[in-house]
Amino acid sequence: MLEVDDADIVPHFQRVAISGEDTSGVPLEDLREASVALVKALSIREKYMSMAMQSFPRTTHRFLHSVQKGTLLRPSRDSTDLYHPINPPSTNDPFQCDFIQDGGFRMKPVGGVMYVYRDEEALLNNQPLDFPYPKLAEFLSDQNIMFALMSDGPMKSFSFRRLAYLSSKYKLHTLLNELRESASQKEVPHRDFYNVRKVDTHVHASSCMNQKHLLRFIKSKVKHRPDDLVCKGKDGAEMSLLQVFESLNLSAYDLSVDMLDVHADRNTFHRFDKFNAKYNPVGESRLREIFIKTDNYNGGKYFADILKEVMDDLEESKYQNAEYRLSIYGRSTSEWDKLAKWAVDHHVYSDNVRWLIQVPRLYDVYKSNNLVKNFQELLDNIFLPLFEVTNDPKTHPQLHAFLNHVSGFDSVDDESKAENTMFDKDSPLPENWASLENPPYAYYLYYMYANIISLNHFRRERGLNTFVLRPHCGEAGPIHHLITGFMLAENISHGLLLRKSPVLEYLYYLAQVGIAMSPLSNNSLFLNYHRNPLLEYLSRGLLVSLSSDDPLQFHFTKEPLMEEYSIAAQVWKLSSVDMCELARNSVFMSGFTHLVKRHWLGPNYTKEGVAGNDMSRSNVPDIRVGFRFETFLEELSNIFQSVKGFAADMNEDGDVTANGQK
Ligand SMILES: *[C@@H]1O[C@H](CO)[C@@H](O)[C@H](O)[C@H]1NC(C)=O
Ligand SMILES: *[C@@H]1O[C@H](CO)[C@@H](O)[C@H](O)[C@H]1NC(C)=O
Ligand SMILES: *[C@@H]1O[C@H](CO)[C@@H](O)[C@H](O)[C@H]1NC(C)=O
Ligand SMILES: *[C@@H]1O[C@H](CO)[C@@H](O)[C@H](O)[C@H]1NC(C)=O
Ligand SMILES: [Zn+2]
Repeated sequence: MLEVDDADIVPHFQRVAISGEDTSGVPLEDLREASVALVKALSIREKYMSMAMQSFPRTTHRFLHSVQKGTLLRPSRDSTDLYHPINPPSTNDPFQCDFIQDGGFRMKPVGGVMYVYRDEEALLNNQPLDFPYPKLAEFLSDQNIMFALMSDGPMKSFSFRRLAYLSSKYKLHTLLNELRESASQKEVPHRDFYNVRKVDTHVHASSCMNQKHLLRFIKSKVKHRPDDLVCKGKDGAEMSLLQVFESLNLSAYDLSVDMLDVHADRNTFHRFDKFNAKYNPVGESRLREIFIKTDNYNGGKYFADILKEVMDDLEESKYQNAEYRLSIYGRSTSEWDKLAKWAVDHHVYSDNVRWLIQVPRLYDVYKSNNLVKNFQELLDNIFLPLFEVTNDPKTHPQLHAFLNHVSGFDSVDDESKAENTMFDKDSPLPENWASLENPPYAYYLYYMYANIISLNHFRRERGLNTFVLRPHCGEAGPIHHLITGFMLAENISHGLLLRKSPVLEYLYYLAQVGIAMSPLSNNSLFLNYHRNPLLEYLSRGLLVSLSSDDPLQFHFTKEPLMEEYSIAAQVWKLSSVDMCELARNSVFMSGFTHLVKRHWLGPNYTKEGVAGNDMSRSNVPDIRVGFRFETFLEELSNIFQSVKGFAADMNEDGDVTANGQK
């Protein structure tokens, strides 16, 4: 077994140990075959993560390194600071920042990915800067390997057994150590579940307020600002807020939560279309346009106002934080500037909030409305402004300031929509993708990922912050979305379908991919609450966190995140240790900067195992953290030892019999 950092810090608790040589419960040859396959899959993920400057667990990295010395790229994770070079000081003006000089770079999309050239001459000579990224052919071949692994028989039964073992081991652990764990929590002064930091790791900004809040807000605007000009009517004349309400035959007094009708209900189960209609208050797209859009006739003023109210609530609660998703659609290149102008002009900022940019997968809609010619145009609209502002911030000053607070990209839409094509070597390149058909999920993600890599290299060279990819993945639809997520995403939202693929679930465990789950939202949409796999994932040690997703549709109170925790605790009888562990996970997988996380979790938080846990801040007992880490090491050593044995046999006589003996 490899050494552990600070191995001397070992808490005392009752350990569950399995004795004997072979503890996997499958035939030796199956163990070897499965292990080799798992190692292969993990090294694929590591490659994609390190290329994109995204994180990968250090322990898994060390194990990988021990079996394939020299073949790995630079170590990931060790230099967390590097990935977040900019920690904007929380001065009076968070949008104040330094402007670097025009770098004089040129850029051009090549095969769907933006290339950067040192100058005009390099562009003419076709000599781009060397920003390595996995080329299309490489991605497709890795994808094929992953597909083959997923359907491998021994691998399936092996993973299934290991997951069952992990569940049982956790049950025994709780049985034996529950009292110790809660006693050690009581020993920590001041800290309890209410004052540990928690991050709502997945919320859509347009529905981050609850229905009552939205109602109150609308009423107060109608009452106090009836003369605000808010839109243009059918005849092209400006309309005031009061006129809009008159035209709808509504008065502020009449308006009720029932009339607003934004809450998900029984009718939305498995009906994403109906669910999306719920985004429109009173079923009126005009009200949505006026109140919850950043880009409308009054410059998104109302949306900024209500968002600031929500953020004030977060600040007041102090320990709750959120990562809100704002949309960039890719219909035009001016979207970024408008969004940044909205944020900066209305001063939409809070120390408790980080932004993610969600890109809906709606190429087919824009294409059929003639908004874009081909998929490349959509990519250009999304990425070109980002490369321009990286080259010369003065070209988009507000965007430059806004990007400091953006931590990454999300990919959203209904995953259960049918995909008629697979992403393979016959798929057209983005510039040739001009049909009305929507590209498949993997296609969207690959091109987003490749462009983000190029952008990250470029931004790092310019000393600017970089971005991660954290898509919605595995909520519904085909399971292979989770393969794409495993290869390309730093962490994901939902991951519900992992429960249907033991191999993938086990891999998500071994790579400790963060999963933001929203059991309440999925209760309304796809999966009844008690069948949600969150508890199972947590007990097995997957890195899961709780998030609220759409408080406007699902929640009732002013603290939607607490509502999530509270319901989860009631339904699944979670202990305070479990809740604090979920909260710690949420901080860990969030996009808050390194400095902030250090402040919240302790100076050593990037260390793994007990050494990285500061109980006086996380309120998670060392016993729990120790248990998780020891279990994790045990799993990895099981797999890697049998691979090493395999490799050794190979070296000795270059030939191995089925059971690895000569
Ligand atoms: C509003 O009410 C008036 C009179 O009650 C009615 O004539 C009109 O059709 C209504 N308009 C709408 C949009 O319901
Ligand atoms: C889970 O809930 C989110 C939030 O709306 C939704 O977008 C997603 O489709 C749901 N997925 C499942 C599988 O329930
Ligand atoms: C998830 O993404 C964030 C960046 O947004 C990163 O800091 C964090 O380490 C990731 N978590 C995991 C478990 O990969
Ligand atoms: C962090 O690690 C250092 C060195 O291992 C140790 O001296 C220090 O006490 C640790 N700090 C906390 C808060 O655990
Ligand atoms: Zn969502």
